[in-house]
Amino acid sequence: MAKVRMRINGRVRTLGVEPQVSLLDALRERLDLTGTKKGYNQGACGACTVLVDGERICSCLALAVQYEGREITTIEGVADTDLAHPLQSAFIRHDGFQCGYCTSGQICSAIGMLAEHAVGAPSAVTEHLGSVPELTDDEIRERMSGNLCRCGAYNGIVDAIKEVAKL
Ligand code: FES
Ligand code: FES
Repeated sequence: MAKVRMRINGRVRTLGVEPQVSLLDALRERLDLTGTKKGYNQGACGACTVLVDGERICSCLALAVQYEGREITTIEGVADTDLAHPLQSAFIRHDGFQCGYCTSGQICSAIGMLAEHAVGAPSAVTEHLGSVPELTDDEIRERMSGNLCRCGAYNGIVDAIKEVAKL
């Protein structure tokens, strides 16, 4: 059993975990942060997306012991105050979900994606490298392609992200 100290949603948490425990299982089963969902549990669907030091990762592929001293943000911590994060409100306004199972991952991923885009990170569909590309529907779809929605709420998801990107 290893002891890991992480800052999770602004609060320092220390927990004992076996070396093989994923960050996803540590969050859900040890810390009761069940907003982060388990889909296929093999890095293929994005349901388990969280932010580590502001960057999006699949927590099912990460071992909790790797994250000693890191800053983890889950869906429970994306809003600064009691108000919803702008993406949470936009997902509601644009019907960006149906069953909601993928939504935590979609929103965490979109936060990370918008930060990547803001510093000019290209995607596979970016035509001109070297400048911040316009966040077109194709760019959003490509950049969010690691997050699957079995309900097919993709149009609403794209509209919600587009609205927040313009704020
Ligand atoms: S549960 Fe981690 S990517 Fe699907
Ligand atoms: S809203 Fe149901 S899987 Fe996306």
